Amino acid sequence: MAINDAPLLRELGESNRRLQVIQSQNPPKPAKTRIFTISNQKGGVGKTTTTVNLASALAAKGLKVLVIDLDPQGNASTALGVPHQEGVKGIYEVLTEGTPLIQVIKPTTESPNLVCIPATIDLAGAEIEIVTQIDRDKWHNLLKVALDEFIAGAEEAPDYVFIDCPPSLGLLTINAFVAAREVLIPIQCEYYALEGLSQLLRNIDLIQKNLNPELSLSTILLTMYDSRTKLASQVVADVRQHFPTQTLNAIIPRNVRVSEAPSFGRSVISHDHSSPGALSYMEAAIEIAFRGAQNGR
Ligand SMILES: Nc1ncnc2c1ncn2[C@@H]1O[C@H](COP(=O)(O)OP(=O)(O)O)[C@@H](O)[C@H]1O
Ligand SMILES: [Mg+2]
Repeated sequence: MAINDAPLLRELGESNRRLQVIQSQNPPKPAKTRIFTISNQKGGVGKTTTTVNLASALAAKGLKVLVIDLDPQGNASTALGVPHQEGVKGIYEVLTEGTPLIQVIKPTTESPNLVCIPATIDLAGAEIEIVTQIDRDKWHNLLKVALDEFIAGAEEAPDYVFIDCPPSLGLLTINAFVAAREVLIPIQCEYYALEGLSQLLRNIDLIQKNLNPELSLSTILLTMYDSRTKLASQVVADVRQHFPTQTLNAIIPRNVRVSEAPSFGRSVISHDHSSPGALSYMEAAIEIAFRGAQNGR
């Protein structure tokens, strides 16, 4: 063995050890459906990647998961192998026509435990249609009413619902904040990471005071961490200092397996389950489940 192989072998041993720990853990079922909105008004911070991979990780552990794609781009639908071309019925019909959720739920290629409500490009026009065609007092509640009705009537209610938000603070995102009980903010470990965060926190506060008293910022996940830069570890330290109880111990590294997985219509969990990205998303999902149980969720 050449001397230079040593770090590689060490790394391999380390990921085997993490995989064993992950395989030995059984995250509990929550007392009632946990509904998360994955929010950050910035684009490209890892909202969709986090939605898809946490959902797949929990499904791999036997929990029932529903992903609601609320971004007209439909990236979450793509990543889960769910068709979302024009003409496919999805969240647009739920919001604008009152179609019941159950009628637009689609299976995913990931797992029988993981289903998805797709977003088509029609959703881009939904906000205008809602404000011009629906009574004002219903604008904010459309998703909540549909989701509550689905959960109450389901034979087996999902354990987790993840709502993937668009990068804006418009009516779609407000609907997600009103339908959810928990907010998960992915924060990219980069220079501008904390910029815009105070605006997001103010908005969560406004929603909580005026529209949804149950909403709380329960979880922050640091993503796209690059261990080679000093800046990344500084961002981690800053975020942990500001949000000591919400920030997960698990940190998602920047990893090419994570970014290439959607082009196969898969999560990184099914694409390469022992890659650094998959291990970290599994660890984050397990942590979310155990923390929830500790906090009575
Ligand atoms: N941990 C990661 N490692 C490498 N690339 C990542 C990682 N997380 C996200 N990406 C890539 O970064 C881009 C933005 O991520 P995405 O989840 O689409 O962000 P958002 O939904 O917030 O716009 C995508 O191309 C995605 O594949
Ligand atoms: Mg996205």
